[in-house]
Amino acid sequence: MKIGIELGTSTAGQPVRLDLEELLSTRLLVQGNSGSGKSHLLRRLLEQSAGHVQQAIIDPEGDFVGFGERFGHVVIDAERTVGEIQRIAARIRRHRASVVFNLEGLDADAQMRSAAAFLSGLFDADREHWYPMLVIVDEAQLFAPSGASEISDEARRVSLSAMTNLMCRGRKRGLAGVIATQRLAKLAKNVAAEASNFLMGRTFLDIDMARAADLLGMDKRQAESFRDLNTGSFVALGPALSRRPLPVKIGHVETASRNGRPELMPPPELGTAQIQDLIFDDLATEPPPQPARPVERRATEEILETLEVAPAPVPAPVDPAVAAAFDAEREALVAEIVRQFVADPEAPFRSAAALYPDFLVHCRVRRVGSRVPDLAEFTRRLAIARAGLDARAEDEDWQRAVAQAAGLPEEMQGVFLLLARAGMDGAPSPADEALARAYGSRSPSRGRWLLTYMEERGHLVCEADFRGRRVVRFPTLGWKTAPGDPKGLPASA
Ligand SMILES: Nc1ncnc2c1ncn2[C@@H]1O[C@H](COP(=O)(O)OP(=O)(O)OP(=O)(O)O)[C@@H](O)[C@H]1O
Ligand SMILES: [Mg+2]
Repeated sequence: MKIGIELGTSTAGQPVRLDLEELLSTRLLVQGNSGSGKSHLLRRLLEQSAGHVQQAIIDPEGDFVGFGERFGHVVIDAERTVGEIQRIAARIRRHRASVVFNLEGLDADAQMRSAAAFLSGLFDADREHWYPMLVIVDEAQLFAPSGASEISDEARRVSLSAMTNLMCRGRKRGLAGVIATQRLAKLAKNVAAEASNFLMGRTFLDIDMARAADLLGMDKRQAESFRDLNTGSFVALGPALSRRPLPVKIGHVETASRNGRPELMPPPELGTAQIQDLIFDDLATEPPPQPARPVERRATEEILETLEVAPAPVPAPVDPAVAAAFDAEREALVAEIVRQFVADPEAPFRSAAALYPDFLVHCRVRRVGSRVPDLAEFTRRLAIARAGLDARAEDEDWQRAVAQAAGLPEEMQGVFLLLARAGMDGAPSPADEALARAYGSRSPSRGRWLLTYMEERGHLVCEADFRGRRVVRFPTLGWKTAPGDPKGLPASA
């Protein structure tokens, strides 16, 4: 965790933090019924992170308009042409300006089209402007609905595609989607599935609960607990939050929502006649009500100018101790997943490339986060684990062998280290079959081929004693194995 912002407290009263840097690459989904506290949660997240990262808030209800006054976000009312919105979006990325994109007052169709234009504008920014940015979408089911609705097909198509781009392909462009929805079942599956972090609030409907359980990898019975959550209480899970489901009570906020919780108010104590007068008197002469125009409409040019001078967020200092602890946890998880592959009786005979997709799935399920080893790194780790070794051992001598192994192709490094280990310990040289197995093959001739390959490149020298047993020398390391039968049974068989 590099920049941990405090979301709230656990049941034990401990602070619950969100790793902002991890969030940037692993995205967040918030779900909970109306009144469960999602908008409050988003507000808390936005307030706490405002000083660290650029933010764009897609705001269907005009709920976040007040943010501008407190945090300097530029409020952009959405009633503009697609071209204007896209120009504004490009400027936002260039100048790293935080903004509220206010869709209040537009009908559903126009809301979808405007949000789509805005998101595509952010997405299509020039490569040199791909600065990290949180993109918060409240009421995300409006923009990425799962089923058909009365909205025109065209609006649905552009909006869904913009949301899919944000959640599926936004990471490389620096866009981190944070989406909130009342009804998980109403949110397009592919959009929800791209978030690796979840905050689940009170949920009543079985169909939403089932989707939540599915996303979180919980059984339905565990997910039943979502029914009993109070307003403002969520269950957090994900690489940026917690590796196990963690209940959290969201902390207080500084800015106020315009749309507070409605409070009961007794009707005025008036007689029927009085009420009738109030409703019908002078009705003919009263001017018709003006449609509300809650947001001041600013000219596009004026907004573009404001964006030029918007203050960019200041990067926060990195806490090395916290970062090291987080890295160690990630390392332990990856090592454990690799060990599981080695323990699988069939896995030793499948190539690292064939196993890699499974590895990625495991990393995702175990919430390793964004820094997952790439194929080359996975191949190397797998090879070392297959040889029954730990490349991270502290021993200085051993580290010299690890350094030498790095000069070999990844899939051979484990074989070399298996031999080197025997050399270091003065143990018998491993049999051909053991070498082959460490390489992912059943064929002893593969083991002999590996020895020849490494010998030709000067990594080791093979000799035979008078009984035909093999001795392997490591000239640069100064080690030698004891004699071992090349046809002997591998130790693990
Ligand atoms: N953690 C909290 N602490 C104190 N008050 C909270 C908290 N969370 C929510 N509230 C209050 O509860 C009410 C409902 O919260 P909020 O508007 O965030 O719900 P919501 O999930 O966004 O609902 P909707 O889906 O209808 O928009 C608000 O008045 C809010 O101030
Ligand atoms: Mg809300």
